[in-house]
Amino acid sequence: MNLQHWADALNSHWGITADLRRLDGEYDLNFMATDADGTGYILKAMRPGCEGWLVEMQVQAFQHIAAQAPELPCPRVIPSSNVEAMLSLPDDSGADRLCWVLECLPGKCYANAAPKTASLIHEVGAALGGVGKALADFQHPNLARDFKWDLMQAGWVGSEIDSLSDPSKQSLIKEIETTFANLEPVLQSLPKQAIHNDANDYNIMVTGELTEPRRVSGLIDLGDICAAPRVCDLAIAAAYIVLDHLDPEAALTALVAGYHSTYPLTAQEVDLVYPLLRMRLAVSVVNSTLMAAENPDDPYVTISQAPAWRFLEGHDLHPGLLSARLRAACGMPVVEGAERVMDWLHSERGNFAPLMGADLKDAPMGSLSVENSTWPQNPFHMPLQEAARVGEEFEDGDKIWLGYYHEPRLIYTEPAFRKGPFKASNRRTVHLAVDAFAPAGTPMFAPLAGEVFVVENRTGHLDYGGVIILRHETPAGDPFYTLYGHLDPECCERLAQGDQIEKGAQFCRLGDASMNGGWAPHVHFQLALTTQGIEADWPGVGDPDEMYMWRAICPNPAALLNLPDEKCRYQPTNKDTIRKGRQDHFGDNLSLTYSDPVMLLRGWKHHLFDEWGRPYLDAYNNVPHVGHAHPRIQAVAADQLKRMNSNTRYLHPAQTAFADKILSKLPDHLEVCFFVNSGSEANELALRLARAHTGAKGMVTPDHGYHGNTTGVIDVSAYKFNAKGGIGKSNWVELVEVADDYRGSFKRDDADRAQKFADLVDPAIEALQERGQGVAGFIAETFPSVGGQIIPPRGYLPAVYEKIRAAGGICIADEVQTGLGRLGDYYFGFEHQGASPDIVVMGKPIGNGHPIGVLVTTRAIADSFAKGPEFFSTFGGSTLSCRMGKEVLDIVDDEDLQENARLMGADLIAGLNALGAKHSCVGDIRGMGLFLGVELINVDGSEATQICAYVKNRMRDHRILIGSEGPKDNILKIRPPLTIDAEGVQMILTVLDSVLSEVALP
Ligand SMILES: Cc1ncc(COP(=O)(O)O)c(C=O)c1O
Repeated sequence: MNLQHWADALNSHWGITADLRRLDGEYDLNFMATDADGTGYILKAMRPGCEGWLVEMQVQAFQHIAAQAPELPCPRVIPSSNVEAMLSLPDDSGADRLCWVLECLPGKCYANAAPKTASLIHEVGAALGGVGKALADFQHPNLARDFKWDLMQAGWVGSEIDSLSDPSKQSLIKEIETTFANLEPVLQSLPKQAIHNDANDYNIMVTGELTEPRRVSGLIDLGDICAAPRVCDLAIAAAYIVLDHLDPEAALTALVAGYHSTYPLTAQEVDLVYPLLRMRLAVSVVNSTLMAAENPDDPYVTISQAPAWRFLEGHDLHPGLLSARLRAACGMPVVEGAERVMDWLHSERGNFAPLMGADLKDAPMGSLSVENSTWPQNPFHMPLQEAARVGEEFEDGDKIWLGYYHEPRLIYTEPAFRKGPFKASNRRTVHLAVDAFAPAGTPMFAPLAGEVFVVENRTGHLDYGGVIILRHETPAGDPFYTLYGHLDPECCERLAQGDQIEKGAQFCRLGDASMNGGWAPHVHFQLALTTQGIEADWPGVGDPDEMYMWRAICPNPAALLNLPDEKCRYQPTNKDTIRKGRQDHFGDNLSLTYSDPVMLLRGWKHHLFDEWGRPYLDAYNNVPHVGHAHPRIQAVAADQLKRMNSNTRYLHPAQTAFADKILSKLPDHLEVCFFVNSGSEANELALRLARAHTGAKGMVTPDHGYHGNTTGVIDVSAYKFNAKGGIGKSNWVELVEVADDYRGSFKRDDADRAQKFADLVDPAIEALQERGQGVAGFIAETFPSVGGQIIPPRGYLPAVYEKIRAAGGICIADEVQTGLGRLGDYYFGFEHQGASPDIVVMGKPIGNGHPIGVLVTTRAIADSFAKGPEFFSTFGGSTLSCRMGKEVLDIVDDEDLQENARLMGADLIAGLNALGAKHSCVGDIRGMGLFLGVELINVDGSEATQICAYVKNRMRDHRILIGSEGPKDNILKIRPPLTIDAEGVQMILTVLDSVLSEVALP
């Protein structure tokens, strides 16, 4: 291809001097032309013999869109120097080609854009709807044309099915084609208009990198424009949007809702989208099969075949449920008559026969929500003993109490409620019924006349036991259904499908736990406006992210109980209200993680749950060292609070028991404990001890360190005092470079790096001495954490300690992050270094959430300090704290959590190393046990702050909490509770792999 030929043509006929690059194209020559200013153009040289009308029609359509809706992201046609939209020019072999030039829109094609979020897809739909609306009155004599990509003419596929060799593929395409044929009369009845007709993922342009929002920047290529019902346009786009999408239903929903937002659809059109989508994919696969047979060596023709087959063969979405979903997303009634049913139910409120035989107006509501309830103790496992007692706190003799509609609950723990492979995958939590709790055997009466649609005994674990679904009709003849679950299965013997039940007739009774699935006796009372797609097996709870649909299919049944909707409907605490409260009541430098912060209300081991019961894998929080909500921690706290809670001015065996336990983990020379409330307080105390013992004030500390938030320790925390708005370095502090052998002055290939880093302490000591501060000591996080999860080369700390001691100082090991078994191979980080500190500081994890800090030192240092005034910390060493701290340390031992940290850490590091080999933005993987860092880098090796922010937020989108650290905030910090298991490790690796792949896309 002679690029110069076309560059010259562009220059002489359009006056554009540009560098050209060939773009892909099925038949025509397409060039990307970039001029000296960086402005881009697309030069299109059509195939020789291309009909003039084809270009003319596209040119006019683009011009029409530009005139009708200039805001739409469609390219403008660039006229030639003599104001022609197209010219016939010879190519380098002398053949004439019709040539035209378009503005080049920014961004990359949708196929290469990631992530393909619902909001981006919604915007694609909105842009396509906008174009459809703009083209509604576009006319051209050739719009009605005869070609295989007109979905209205897709019936041709029927006669080519034999080209597929696989019989199962043949029958699949036959089934799609038959469904399509049945819909043809409806399709033919729809108005036709000009449509884009090829909004595939290479014809949609997207801007936005990393943390920027993704926006649709272009809808290009009108080469397939034709006249057809507009829903064909939407279905064609949909056929590409769903391919290889992790949640094709959600993607389709976002697209249709987006289209509807700019060019409102009818319910009939919405229902056509899915069958037409499948037909388009059928056309695509049959066409590629035929073309592949003709051109066995051309990969272009089969490019979309594999994903299309994957979708067609892998997804058999229920058309009825999908229709309800799409309609609900467009704000339409889910079925014809749904609004009339609801109007009638509301108008009849108060006139229904009482379900429980009693007026429920004053029946109390009992909440089993994520935020109000702690059922079950383990949100991943509901034992039968607990299920049978659920809600017992609301019981009051034989009185009826009610459970909320629309309430997120954690009591649904069976795998059937989980929507993905991991514990932190999406989960159905939101109750779609009202419950009435009453003694087993309580009779129930039909609120209105109905016909038995289902009567069954579902004997599965924690299922319904006896269940009845009744079919009703409003006086206007609109059907709806009510479900009664957890019944005494005796109803199955008395009732059969088709039986008529009179209004007010006693038709069933509450089962006990032995027969109702295992639950505390209650009825699950649910309303549904359609059974399409849910048939006899209605979900009793919905995914919180799909409530737009479930609220529409299964609305609040309060009217049927003669109750106001508000009484029965639960609304979780709104995250935005809490956020606003924070803004009103707290300072602006109290930061929140994530662009969309999470509100966490329950936890269990290494998982957390938000207000809707969405689970998250906690791979970040080290405070819940032995896991969130550990039963032994709960028990010991409750037990001590039942007894008394006082301070160290009185004797209590818990104080010495805690001290004994800690000292058993430390070298013998560390023999005196101080109990305080936090890591900050412990480090603050360490500074006082150092000063008391040495008589000096000067401190040496590594750069980027953090030791707490109090006035004294802020001065030795470069991470804070050197931060924007920080107070700067004090004259009694000297910083030394962090012993980072990945990015620092001495690298891993330097065998003497430990000593060389340690030697940097010499000038710091000298500087302090010169300033008359003397050397009180050296304080360092044993493995710098906020500095970027750094493991200093072995031997670094002993070399530093030697120099500090020679200068008269003492050595403080801040083990707040690294201590207590997290490192797997070591209980404390200083053990790895072969160092012998004078003071060890512990914090955070030692209380598992209860505020405890501990300092341990030598007798000599403690004695120096004891020469001063009394030391007292009101809550430090409280009876409660001592018992909790000891319990945490005991649990680490009893549950072998240090060993678990070692094993899980090794698996994580191995998996991360594999990801590092695959993804070029991974610069370094470091850490030990469950103290891990992944340093992300740009192409030039510099710190990839933006990529890191992107990855952290995307991990959160996928329900994994991790952190980011380092001077440039480019290091992913993985630091889960020590309970993390192989499944959690796998989830981190799987999700990180997919998120890093998004970063790598061109
Ligand atoms: C290494 C280190 N030391 C001390 C502290 C301060 O602990 P606290 O927040 O309990 O005062 C922290 C807190 O993040 C820390 O990471």
